[in-house]
Amino acid sequence: MAFDFTGKTIGITGAAGIHGIGFAIARKFLQYGAAVFICDLDEKALSGAEALLQEYGTVKAYTVDVSNSQAVSGMFEKAIRDFGYIDVFISNAGIYPQVMVCDMTEEQWDAVMAVNLKSVFLCAKECRRVMDRGGVLINASSFAALLGSAGSGAYAASKAAVYNLTKTLAAELAPYGIRAVGYLPGVIETGMTKEVIESREKELTEAIALKRLGKSEDVADAVCFLASEQAAYMTGTFIEISGGKLCVQNPDFAWKRCGTA
Ligand SMILES: NC(=O)c1ccc[n+]([C@@H]2O[C@H](COP(=O)([O-])OP(=O)(O)OC[C@H]3O[C@@H](n4cnc5c(N)ncnc54)[C@H](O)[C@@H]3O)[C@@H](O)[C@H]2O)c1
Repeated sequence: MAFDFTGKTIGITGAAGIHGIGFAIARKFLQYGAAVFICDLDEKALSGAEALLQEYGTVKAYTVDVSNSQAVSGMFEKAIRDFGYIDVFISNAGIYPQVMVCDMTEEQWDAVMAVNLKSVFLCAKECRRVMDRGGVLINASSFAALLGSAGSGAYAASKAAVYNLTKTLAAELAPYGIRAVGYLPGVIETGMTKEVIESREKELTEAIALKRLGKSEDVADAVCFLASEQAAYMTGTFIEISGGKLCVQNPDFAWKRCGTA
């Protein structure tokens, strides 16, 4: 599906990793004609990403800690100064520590909630402030929001909260002409999942109906759809991009039946 975002400005957090979902989303929007701003905490990686994305169109990069309210306000100020308006904003930044819940320190717990959840709240407030002609707010949740995750329970809890918060935001922002939607990636091959995939690739793939892990590009087109006019009647809803992860109890069954497992 092709989209036309000519004349639109899109902001994306957590887009510094060139194999990451945020970077892929930024590239897609640029290819569909949008001007894009990206932000990340990792300044060095961010400037590398900005340089690569410039090949596709107008892009600006801001170094921001999305869990810091002043930094988030500053980013929105800069974006309005640089682009005039923000049509679509994507809260994509996140962290994924692999620690059993009862082994976590309070600091680790707080960091997950600050980066994955508080940032969504801070960015939503700014969106309502600046999107005075309406817009679209898109939040990154996770398949882990639907089903808890041993070894990353704080992450799963934060993403379940993002899922729930986005639904409330959909109702509260509707009178302002702002849709609030989100995406639920399954297992996507990025820097975030590198270690987990290296240690458990076979087990992870076995739970997926399509029998392959996802790519950042698989997520990017779904996000462009959510931002588009074609999704104008969607708010408070999420798209799952997981290749059919655990859509049945026994994903292997059909593959064995047709003799290709
Ligand atoms: N990869 C997956 O399988 C998967 C699955 C479900 C959900 N997600 C979600 O998708 C989003 C993108 O993940 P990804 O896989 O591309 O990971 P990634 O690690 O490539 O991207 C996350 C980015 O967020 C940035 N970041 C971290 N803390 C930040 C902060 N305080 N301020 C600003 N930026 C910060 C990181 O530097 C990184 O560039 C995340 O919200 C993640 O939880 C990913």
